Amino acid sequence: MRIGILGSGLMGGKLGTLFARAGHDVTFSYSHSPDKLKKLARKAGKTARAGSPADAARDADALLLAVHWSRMEDVLHQAGDLKGKVIVTCSLPMSQNDSTLVIAHASSGAEALAKMVPRAKVVSAFGTVPSEVLFDVFEGKRRTRKPSLVYCGDDARAKRVAKRLIADVGFDPIDAGPLKIARYAEPFTLLIAQLAYEGKGGPELAYRFERLGG
Ligand SMILES: NC(=O)c1ccc[n+]([C@@H]2O[C@H](COP(=O)([O-])OP(=O)(O)OC[C@H]3O[C@@H](n4cnc5c(N)ncnc54)[C@H](OP(=O)(O)O)[C@@H]3O)[C@@H](O)[C@H]2O)c1
Repeated sequence: MRIGILGSGLMGGKLGTLFARAGHDVTFSYSHSPDKLKKLARKAGKTARAGSPADAARDADALLLAVHWSRMEDVLHQAGDLKGKVIVTCSLPMSQNDSTLVIAHASSGAEALAKMVPRAKVVSAFGTVPSEVLFDVFEGKRRTRKPSLVYCGDDARAKRVAKRLIADVGFDPIDAGPLKIARYAEPFTLLIAQLAYEGKGGPELAYRFERLGG
């Protein structure tokens, strides 16, 4: 697939690199530093390149949206017309100082995003794990007990794309249902962040759901 990365920081830089390593064509975009984008692309391999958000969006089969909530309008504006595009978002609707969710309970960041780009197909995925664990998950891809990763969305085709990307990174994709389930997934991330960054053992943390009985 051709994948555009909108926001090439901790999440976008790492996920884009892993998508490239899994064989996808990747365009890294949206950083203060064009050199950083070029370096990321060089390190990610032959199928990766650097570009503008519009370059990343053009011809993309999927876009990964990985920016701070405060940058959302700007990056979407720079990406241009996203009609029909699959947008996989890991972005959380955090306050400026990252202390709290600014949208929760009755809606979610993913749903607010879908309203901003009504003609795109939004899936919420990858936002429930810390960036620090992503390379470890990829390296352990062949293990039988993979960590889970929940995703949700309203469009079946977009969800199939997200499911494939999740599996390509090495997670067991868990379809959590429609996009409004992001109302539960986004606060769950704050629990994961608490365990990752305040708990013992470091931030290389993922989670796994086990279904017992039956
Ligand atoms: N980090 C995590 O572990 C984690 C986990 C789950 C969810 N999330 C969510 O994922 C999203 C991305 O998080 P992140 O940690 O990857 O953020 P980040 O490291 O700060 O990356 C954001 C990217 O946006 C770019 N950017 C910001 N302002 C810009 C501007 N004015 N012009 C051009 N580029 C600009 C940054 O540029 P530079 O390259 O110059 O910095 C960076 O490449 C957030 O919504 C966050 O809540 C993060």
